[in-house]
Amino acid sequence: MATLFTFASSTTTSRFSRPNFPARTTAIITCSDTVKIANNSKTFLISPLPVASLNSLRCDPGYLIPNYPVGGNGGDSGFQYLINILGARVYDVAHESPLQLASKLSQKLGVNVWLKREDFQPVFSFKLREAYKLSEEELKRGVICSSAGNHAQGVALASHKLGCNAIIVMPVTTPEMKWKSVERLGGNVVLMRDAYDESQAYAKKRAEEEGRTFIPPFDHPDVIAGQGTIGMEINRQLKDKIHAIFVPVGGGGLIAGIASYIKRVAPDVKIIGVEPCDANAMVMSLHYGHRVILDQVGNFADGVAVKVVGEETFRLCKELIDGVVLGNRNAICDMFEEKRNILEPAGALALAGAEAYCKYYGLKDENVVAITSGANINFDRLRLISKLADAGRNREAVLATCMLEEPGSLKRFCKQVGPTMKFIEFKYRYDSRDEKALVLYRVAHQTKSELEALVEKMRSAKLHTVNLTDKDLVKDHSRHLTGGRSNLHNELLCRFTFPKKAGALLKTVDAFSPRWNVSLIHYRAQGHIGANVLVGIQVPQDEFDEFQDCARRLGYKYVVKNIK
Ligand SMILES: Cc1ncc(COP(=O)(O)O)c(C=O)c1O
Repeated sequence: MATLFTFASSTTTSRFSRPNFPARTTAIITCSDTVKIANNSKTFLISPLPVASLNSLRCDPGYLIPNYPVGGNGGDSGFQYLINILGARVYDVAHESPLQLASKLSQKLGVNVWLKREDFQPVFSFKLREAYKLSEEELKRGVICSSAGNHAQGVALASHKLGCNAIIVMPVTTPEMKWKSVERLGGNVVLMRDAYDESQAYAKKRAEEEGRTFIPPFDHPDVIAGQGTIGMEINRQLKDKIHAIFVPVGGGGLIAGIASYIKRVAPDVKIIGVEPCDANAMVMSLHYGHRVILDQVGNFADGVAVKVVGEETFRLCKELIDGVVLGNRNAICDMFEEKRNILEPAGALALAGAEAYCKYYGLKDENVVAITSGANINFDRLRLISKLADAGRNREAVLATCMLEEPGSLKRFCKQVGPTMKFIEFKYRYDSRDEKALVLYRVAHQTKSELEALVEKMRSAKLHTVNLTDKDLVKDHSRHLTGGRSNLHNELLCRFTFPKKAGALLKTVDAFSPRWNVSLIHYRAQGHIGANVLVGIQVPQDEFDEFQDCARRLGYKYVVKNIK
């Protein structure tokens, strides 16, 4: 299988090339991952770390994007980490999670795939393994953290057990189920109007004002050491030689902890990070040799959707891990088939990476371990997963056929598709302007060649057909759109990434209307970080630059496609 492995940019695709970054000016105010700078009379935001384009990395599923570890044992601090992990007091709140064989998948792959079931923890994720050593005085003053997810629940439970007051700052968009469960665990929830960055800045400020200990989600030696206990358990639980341990990577605390233990006691075991293709901050940072901020992140696997990895976690990963593979969305279904358990997308990521890696390298008769890191999922997310499952697992194909609208054409179309093809969904729209009709349809299919033959057959019958199955845009939106192309002039189709802030939709409509006609909107929330929004706008060609200015001022990431 050919490996496509490029870091593409407009000017270069070399693996070793480094982009030019804008010169920095004096930083005056720091707020999480951005810095405010003054330039003459204006103040604006720049990032203190270079920004990398999320979409500049492409590689085959399962290909190990290598890291070349320097040091091999965590450097000077490696021994200290080992001691801290061995002495970490996480078992006040966490259990030793089971290591289970995924027997069906193991049989299919010819590899023993072991699952380290961190989704079995009391808060349904590993996030309660944070080995904080707080003095009596610190416990009395209390702790504070900001999180919309698993970290919040871990801190709430651990604090409750230690009899310590915990404030958990969460974005107001956090699903009720999540913040209520934090409250049930004893946390005092503060809902902030704006997104994660503001919540974090607020939590840090309150920590300073009230003398509380701020508990960061990943970038702290105690957090890393606590999570290293997972490595310690795996090493004890699996006596046979381990080829690799696959670990989901967000900010890098989990993998840094596991690597800090394993590379000390069993350096031959590969430690492989798994990141989603659309949230790959660790692999990009390893590539450039320093931390970078991603220009955007996808939020399907919201537990790992971070724009920038931690400083300490990156230092450890650079020294210890063997590389990163990119995972896909399919492993949630594998896990369901295997154990009848549903993981959250981030929780299934390592399994996806392990499976893809075994297939890519044709691994046989080895032991690999995947950390199933969490199972906190709500019904919205479940709905989305079930919808994506069939398309993602290539059990159905999405096709579009464009045909001349004339008597009998729909019948001709149906005949070409054939009587045995099972339609799952069918959308037909007549475009009166050029007398063409668009049919958008989903069909169940078994093999790739079957599908290719169908597309070919349609094309030779002058029914221009395209296979849209692998297009995420289609997976995310087409199911919910009625009709196809409309009879409008100058219609642009744009895909915006909204932050999950109340009012984003209104702000967008306000930005363009009434200057231009908004002809289509499809918004679907896809997690607590943001949403993909498809917007159709009628913009005459000579107004396109003005439109671009307007879209840029709006401040949301977008791509635009002229569909005419
Ligand atoms: C379920 C789940 N898996 C993996 C991760 C990634 O952990 P880290 O940020 O330490 O890399 C997280 C982080 O919160 C998570 O919630």
